Amino acid sequence: MKKFVYMDAAASWLKPQSVIESEVDFLTNSYANAGRGICARAANVDAMVDDVRGTVADFIGANKENIVFTSGTTDGMNRIVNIIKNTISNKTPIIAVSDLDHHSARLPFEMWAKDGSCKTIILPLDSQLNIDIKNIPFADIYVVTAMSNVMGIFQDVSKISKAIRAQNKDAIIIVDAAQSVVYNKIDVKKYDCDFLVFSGHKIGADTGVGVMYIRKPDDWNVDKFGGGMVNRIIDSDNIILNKSPEKFEAGTLPLTQIIGLKNAIENLSNWNGGHDLIEYMYDELSKTEKIKIFTTRDSHMISFTIDGMHVIDFGAMLGVHNICVRVGNMCASWIHKRLNIDGSVRISVGPWNTMDDAKYVVETIKDLVA
Ligand SMILES: Cc1ncc(COP(=O)(O)O)c(C=O)c1O
Repeated sequence: MKKFVYMDAAASWLKPQSVIESEVDFLTNSYANAGRGICARAANVDAMVDDVRGTVADFIGANKENIVFTSGTTDGMNRIVNIIKNTISNKTPIIAVSDLDHHSARLPFEMWAKDGSCKTIILPLDSQLNIDIKNIPFADIYVVTAMSNVMGIFQDVSKISKAIRAQNKDAIIIVDAAQSVVYNKIDVKKYDCDFLVFSGHKIGADTGVGVMYIRKPDDWNVDKFGGGMVNRIIDSDNIILNKSPEKFEAGTLPLTQIIGLKNAIENLSNWNGGHDLIEYMYDELSKTEKIKIFTTRDSHMISFTIDGMHVIDFGAMLGVHNICVRVGNMCASWIHKRLNIDGSVRISVGPWNTMDDAKYVVETIKDLVA
């Protein structure tokens, strides 16, 4: 039986045992709905969700009322568009997006722009394909991808926000932290951002849970209606909503996944980031003529193409050797366009990977391109 090597952490993490156990324990011993019941068991679930919210708030330097549970980054970005639309309906905002953005960060804005009620412009990148801090244009809303899922380099969000505020002190700054959350400690105060999103599944939590940070929740109208968010309905014209976070959390939350998120966050802090593995593979693969790596040695991932071979075929061949990496456009078409390629192969590691895995991957790739 061939060794199975999963080096696709940037797509989704394998789950730590503590996350799995906490979810099984919750489902077995504590499950009830949250925010609806008054029996001791339901109250306990409320306390558990509140506890996780506190963990998330501490994790990113926020308070509990700033933390809204979503189903992931994509959900968060789409919701932010609707929250903004529902709040600033009298304006035609200019929105700065960039070629580093994942489809889920940029497309909701591009699609909004289609009806002419907002306009998108492009944040310039420098020669290294990082956000060009010296040339930030004026806009009303900025989407800042803190780490591209192809390039793997942290964009200095605090500095970028400072440069943005020099252009427009009232700008709405939205941070996509889906990748950076793994490697760079988030501090929403230092980031000086209005919204920030990430997904639980990319840090070891289950799928179906994400986080949306909102700096000033009272300033924004909601985008969803349903149970759990209403304080009182006097009549159709007088509907009083709960305060944040409840006002943004209509409907039943992904409770089991939320419970696991706490363990995922705790587990994350025990990992060194796996850069020794990345450096080893980078150095070895750089020696291979047919491999064209376009990430740098300090990147958190290795992205490359292979001379004379389609990346999808290459991914399939690695699959035959029980190696799981990501191939294709990574839902990041714009950066691939900038690089003049259709797609790439991406290696990314998690805490489960070992130097033995790295050696096996290097050996296999060398054999395949020989
Ligand atoms: C930078 C970035 N943003 C957004 C997303 C979307 O995340 P999700 O699919 O968890 O919503 C991803 C996922 O790969 C990503 O890498």
